Amino acid sequence: MAEVDVVIMAAGKGTRMKSKLPKVLHTLAGRALLAHVVDTASSLQPRNVVVITGHGATEVEAALPGYICDGAEFSVNFARQEPQLGTGHAVQQALPFLPDDAGVVVVLSGDVPLTQVATLRQLVAASGGDKLALLTLELPNPTGYGRIERNGDAVQAIVEHKDATEAQREIREIYSGIMAAPAARLRTWLARLDNRNAQAEYYLTDIVKMAVADGVPVVAHKITDEVQVAGVNSPVQLAELERAYQRQQAVALMEQGVRLADPARLDVRGSLVCGQDVSIDVNCVFEGTVTLGEGVKIGANCVIANASIAAGAIVHPFTHIDGEKAGVTVGADARIGPFARLRPGAVLGADVHIGNFVEVKNSTLGTGAKANHLAYLGDATVGARVNFGAGSITANYDGVNKHRTVIGDDVHVGSNCVLVAPITVGAGGTVGGGSTLTKDAPDGVLSVARGRQVAITGWKRPVKKAQP
Ligand code: UD1
Ligand code: CA
Repeated sequence: MAEVDVVIMAAGKGTRMKSKLPKVLHTLAGRALLAHVVDTASSLQPRNVVVITGHGATEVEAALPGYICDGAEFSVNFARQEPQLGTGHAVQQALPFLPDDAGVVVVLSGDVPLTQVATLRQLVAASGGDKLALLTLELPNPTGYGRIERNGDAVQAIVEHKDATEAQREIREIYSGIMAAPAARLRTWLARLDNRNAQAEYYLTDIVKMAVADGVPVVAHKITDEVQVAGVNSPVQLAELERAYQRQQAVALMEQGVRLADPARLDVRGSLVCGQDVSIDVNCVFEGTVTLGEGVKIGANCVIANASIAAGAIVHPFTHIDGEKAGVTVGADARIGPFARLRPGAVLGADVHIGNFVEVKNSTLGTGAKANHLAYLGDATVGARVNFGAGSITANYDGVNKHRTVIGDDVHVGSNCVLVAPITVGAGGTVGGGSTLTKDAPDGVLSVARGRQVAITGWKRPVKKAQP
């Protein structure tokens, strides 16, 4: 296959988004629209990706490096288009970055996020390096789009809606905005564009007539899946594409055997990898990279980001897990929630139980450890089978630095205790309810640190004074 270079047009204003944010930085499935397009482009193994920026150029250019995966083999360049004089003018700006050779230039738009790589590969193959290949489809209502004008079967031109005659407006085959063109030819065609048309713009689509005149074959690669070429111009369209994308994710998961209580009430914003017999109740959101082992059950209304949950674990409703960069690990057969919160660096062993209103951050819990109610474990190393009582916390922060709490195996921490870090509670020890420990507690003993209970006899409750 011919060498590929990609031009992504992203200079347009996006007025209908009614937003300060440049249109291509609005997100679909948690990622900028432009990031989806760059991802798709990178799957073509291009030599260069040239992004045409204009409106919000500084913001768009600053955001882009975050979308390019490490070790990408292609170079990314920005070409500014100021002012924006049309799609042909946009692609002209990319020319300094494109080799003048036998390669193929693929033109994409930064606001069309759901094109499949396979479709683009077919388009590049259709071009073959010496033909102009257009991605087209038939629409019941083609209003606004460029129409594919044919003579018999042969494509003659693309006529923009505003320039079209009544008869041309009857044509239902439209140009998607995506093409693959022979690089050297494209260069000569772009040099010949003019703006003598209804919009006084330099139309990229005018190159079709030029190709026909030059005897370069023009092929239309017609698809039927509208979602692949649908652009985002408004919040309504953005939401529609989000639903289409989420529907695809849900179907793919169900085809692998995942049981979804309702495919319309699942959002995957990243990658969700599931073992066999996973079930997910309604209204769950998965972000970043999430792995669910065999038989994992996720209750309703959970938000889970950057976490790995081992086989047999159950996450009860309304649990929030966010591993951020450090990740969260939940061991096999653990029970989490309802209303639990696991934060970065929470590493829970097998059979751990974390109950309602319990927060765990940067802490390791050994096999079978339990914190079932109203507790905070931060910067702690908790041994196996520890029971951490209701209302107890590790005081890990002195206002300046964080310190570690170490709790040995088989410790029982009573209710409403404060373990002031740095501190160690020795294995097998018991901490009496209501204790505030500031010193290490030895192995195997009962440590109590609270005011002793006293019984005051003869004490009288106050009585209500008589009104004057
Ligand atoms: C274009 C096509 C039309 C096609 C339609 C598909 C032309 C002349 N027309 O329509 O045949 O049916 O796409 O959606 O190409 N952009 C720039 N700089 C500019 C103008 C546009 O970067 O000066 C970018 C926009 O940000 C957008 C893309 O190009 O990402 C397409 O622009 P848009 O205005 O949506 O396309 P149309 O001209 O309406
Ligand atoms: Ca458009």
